[in-house]
Amino acid sequence: MKIQGRHTRTIWQEPDGAIGIIDQTLLPHRFATVKLQTLEDVAHAISSMQVRGAPLIGAAAAYGMCLALRADASDEHLERAYATLLATRPTAINLKWALDEMLAVVRNRPREERLPTAWRRAAEIADEDVAINQAIGRHGCALIEAAAARKKPGERVNVLTHCNAGWLATVDWGTALAPVYTAHDKGIALHVWADETRPRNQGAALTAWELGQHGVPHTVIPDNTGGHLMQHGLVDLVIVGTDRVTATGDVCNKIGTYLKALAAHDNGVPFYVGLPSPTIDFTVSDGIAEIPIEQRGADEVATMTGRTADGRIETVRIVPDGSAVANYAFDVTPARLVTGLITERGVLPPARGALAQAFPERLTRSDQPRSVAR
Ligand code: MRU
Repeated sequence: MKIQGRHTRTIWQEPDGAIGIIDQTLLPHRFATVKLQTLEDVAHAISSMQVRGAPLIGAAAAYGMCLALRADASDEHLERAYATLLATRPTAINLKWALDEMLAVVRNRPREERLPTAWRRAAEIADEDVAINQAIGRHGCALIEAAAARKKPGERVNVLTHCNAGWLATVDWGTALAPVYTAHDKGIALHVWADETRPRNQGAALTAWELGQHGVPHTVIPDNTGGHLMQHGLVDLVIVGTDRVTATGDVCNKIGTYLKALAAHDNGVPFYVGLPSPTIDFTVSDGIAEIPIEQRGADEVATMTGRTADGRIETVRIVPDGSAVANYAFDVTPARLVTGLITERGVLPPARGALAQAFPERLTRSDQPRSVAR
């Protein structure tokens, strides 16, 4: 997508072999890029959320394996890199998927071949993400076009989204927002309700910023507003992203997604999920019981950060000293509340048979051993 008119991806290889990223913790107030030189730099970038969003976490981890191999291509270091990166964030399955992909291509190779092979596969993972998201955009656009056909002349389609599943959460295009960008670029009149998404405000900070950069009309709303809008016919469809989808179609996504799905169900509003196939975890059947839910630091809830009138970035406390806070980062929406899964191979019902039939190659891949062959 474009930043100030210039095509930009969220992650890239620098001429000196470092990895470049956009520091998403500074947006929307400052656009700055960061060079990652080591495995530790990448691990820090993922856990501090300089890079975030399931597909981008996967791509960053793939490049992290390259930086690790650049320093030391031994089996021991490969194992250490895999474990270090895997421990950065627990919920998005794209992280493990990408690490397994990297291990699969390098583990049985002589040391001198490992680094060039790893660079190739990491670049492919990034390029594949872009192609997948463009396909999600095409399939999801058809849903927005159908909604547009039901509108009166002069009315626009209202899409509600949660958190940030736009191009900042991927290598390019986004998942939930790929259909929005595709439809907007085709000239379909639409408007996005962007949930602010406390506690880290990815909707207010990131979704609003990237939609604004692309010229997509949008309105930021407090997280509790969606149900009211749906009751008044102001939402035509909900499209969210996801960090992990089970073999049975349960959807794990940013905390608060489940409440939007309940409200959508109660109001007859279609609830769609945009996802690339690496987000499907065929080893998990019951999302509520089996998906590890990340719990993050109390400060994310107890404080807020923003720009003052004179341009300073300040963090202020909003919770009384001494009050306990809880910070569950994700929740699970059961498949029964999901209208459809927008994948690169079409819009699928959230059900085991449909997912298995659409992605048969993933069924066998998920059984692959993980350890490095010595
Ligand atoms: O904690 P984050 O910001 O990494 O969470 C992001 C989300 O929950 C996104 O909706 C999800 O990763 C889908 S990304 C295309």
